[in-house]
Amino acid sequence: MLEDLQEQPKDKILMLMEEYKADPREQKVDLGVGVYRNPEGVTPVMRAIKTAERQLWETETTKAYTGLAGDPAFTMGMRDLVLGGAVEDARVAAAATPGGTGAIRQALELIKMSNPGATVWLSNPTWPNHPSIIKYLGMTMREYRYFDEDSRAVDFGGMMADLAEVKAGDVVLLHGCCHNPTGANLNIEEWRTVAGHLSKIGATPLIDIAYQGFGDGLEADAEGLRLMVRSVPEALIAASCSKNFGIYRERTGVLMGIAPNTGATAAVQGTLAFLNRQNYSFPPDHGARLVSMILADDALKADWMAELEDVRLTMLGLREQLAAELQRLSGSDRFGFIAQHRGMFSRIGATPDQVATMRNDHGIYMVGDSRMNIAGLNQTTVPVLARAIIDAGV
Ligand code: LMR
Repeated sequence: MLEDLQEQPKDKILMLMEEYKADPREQKVDLGVGVYRNPEGVTPVMRAIKTAERQLWETETTKAYTGLAGDPAFTMGMRDLVLGGAVEDARVAAAATPGGTGAIRQALELIKMSNPGATVWLSNPTWPNHPSIIKYLGMTMREYRYFDEDSRAVDFGGMMADLAEVKAGDVVLLHGCCHNPTGANLNIEEWRTVAGHLSKIGATPLIDIAYQGFGDGLEADAEGLRLMVRSVPEALIAASCSKNFGIYRERTGVLMGIAPNTGATAAVQGTLAFLNRQNYSFPPDHGARLVSMILADDALKADWMAELEDVRLTMLGLREQLAAELQRLSGSDRFGFIAQHRGMFSRIGATPDQVATMRNDHGIYMVGDSRMNIAGLNQTTVPVLARAIIDAGV
């Protein structure tokens, strides 16, 4: 049996991590995988996480199982953080999952159980693991236009034209904020238009929110999502704590199902718990517990929010510095979109050859579609990148 296995396609983001590691040059810049790095190049453990870990070590008396859907203190804390009371609590079912990817996987399985014929609509482009998991599950998917390659902004006309073909019972996957890989985001009026459309045709939004707090702030980043859930009868939300709590390897996420009425919530909740049991039984607890401790403690929460805001402003500062440097070198405003984009990523619109040139000549690693992780930069490497972009002829 085992000798019949084929080599599997490698994930291009993870492959890039390997290639970067193997590059012997000292002057190399990693703008690949979406991990925050401070100006010293370190992905720090956030202060509030350290404090919570210390408290947990002192007070935790058991490692016995929690509930199948995770600890309610975590799922409810995350519900409040993401939804901010946008819908009544009694309509929200939630289960802890191994990271945001686990939440996406469980959401897709739930869709498959409930409506096997559903088409899942993905933005073109999207995070490569979205189509990969959908294909693995044997589900149907289609793409909607999202990014205008010339302006590097959202192609909203194209998006709505493609979404006109969505059918009742289909699922439309949206990025809650900080679109990965482009950095271009819907404004609130555009969210309103999409919400009205999905509501009219009876399609369900699946919102992937992995970067809340990295764009315009914790509340502002959830505004579109909250408008959406207020406008449609039902929704699925996959939220990640990897980035905003900096606990990538702890695998901490949550899947929320917003039921059309309070009578339907128990069945959604039961299905989320069932899916956890089938796939991995109990979800990981350590990261989830730290998050719930932080969210329940005013001082810890304030400290976490302050550090998250510093992270956000650092990335924004790098965006502004890079846009200004490129304006200076190119003598034009054509890179102004970098300061308009939000979150960790920007797709800068370089060709695969230009991306390869930047890697070969300047040791700059970005994903082949020219997605760069802003947080991989610092004030010293911004001019190096700007020079590489211009030299490569972008
Ligand atoms: C990314 O897009 O770089 C992150 O979400 C990490 C990953 O797993 O791909």
